[in-house]
Amino acid sequence: MRPSTKLVHGHRYFDERYGAFLPPIYQVAMFEQPDRETGETRLTDRGTELKYSREENPTVRALEHALAAVEESEDALAFSCGMGAISTLFIALLKQGSRLLVTAEAYGATIQLAEELSKFGVTTLKVWPSAEAFAEQVRVGDVVFVETVTNPTLKVLDVVEVAKNCRDVGTTLIVDNTFASPVVFKPATLARTIVVESLTKYIAGHNDVLGGCVAGNADLLKDIWDWRRKMGTIMNPFEAFLTLRGLKTLEIRFERVSRTALEIAEFLQDHPKIEEVFYPGLDSNPYKPIADKIFQRRLYGGVLSFKVKGGKSEVKKVLSKVRIIKPAPSLGGTESLLTYPVISAAKMLPEDERLKLGITDNLLRLSVGLEDTEDLKEDLGEALA
Ligand SMILES: Cc1ncc(COP(=O)(O)O)c(C=O)c1O
Repeated sequence: MRPSTKLVHGHRYFDERYGAFLPPIYQVAMFEQPDRETGETRLTDRGTELKYSREENPTVRALEHALAAVEESEDALAFSCGMGAISTLFIALLKQGSRLLVTAEAYGATIQLAEELSKFGVTTLKVWPSAEAFAEQVRVGDVVFVETVTNPTLKVLDVVEVAKNCRDVGTTLIVDNTFASPVVFKPATLARTIVVESLTKYIAGHNDVLGGCVAGNADLLKDIWDWRRKMGTIMNPFEAFLTLRGLKTLEIRFERVSRTALEIAEFLQDHPKIEEVFYPGLDSNPYKPIADKIFQRRLYGGVLSFKVKGGKSEVKKVLSKVRIIKPAPSLGGTESLLTYPVISAAKMLPEDERLKLGITDNLLRLSVGLEDTEDLKEDLGEALA
């Protein structure tokens, strides 16, 4: 199957009894154990027991098949949210004395969690998002956590180069691919690499679901499956059903928002009230060559950020004047959202670090949705005026 077909049919579900070709919502906490006919506990296709929905659930499993197909990985696990996936991975892979290298501009809660692991004897180092900086720091036995595209200033990391380096050194690489999505980049195809996605964003795609996923090598995922069971971080069946539904339109949504975002980035670049625009699809953007090297398609996603001339008060005016675009802290969904990083994901960063990364008081992040591009440009133009 080619990628678009996998998005639609990757769940592999078929109900022998009724002929239903879409997975129903198995809204049950437990399953009969043992099976009265065989006297044995039922098993899933990966050999785990099907008895309790904190461990396995058929609707969740159907989503996992689809995610593994789309990510081109051996297997996948679905979680309650992106942070459920990341926290479970950290607990599974790190131990007292471990070193964790994490992108300096990673998602706020990821950075906070990574730093707070010091109470268990883990040393966390924040690394500038460049392949060279990671190559300088990485040592055998480390766990390396990177994001394909950083947030909110959209620096693209040469993950292919980082993965080569991690493989040579002998470390495990985790790639949070939320901002790129598997439409343009599939890190699970790189050696020794585990992929994380916040399904809340592009994959579920409708601003109504929280979810997370880990994709990668089946043997490694067995251990992570066991930690998910112990930590209780599995996704619930209803969210899995909605995520499967969202996944089918991922590619067409990603194509559309990428086109809209580029148009809006160009519009803002020429706007007299705008100081600077950050979008890896712009020819002037220093990260475009890296994106063109590692992305399979010339699509750069639906998120861009920009600096409004002036300071906090001008930014707050824009946030209060947009009408179609909603001020809210997320991305990748059907509705356009405008986020003020200083009060959301970057809130906990010390000021000097924040400024070094380019997250200034006048920076706003826009995630475009599926509205008409002209309506979005008008909305922004009026708010800026
Ligand atoms: C890049 C990235 N990773 C992980 C997360 C966490 O995902 P969730 O909110 O689904 O827990 C987010 C949330 O915004 C994110 O932007």
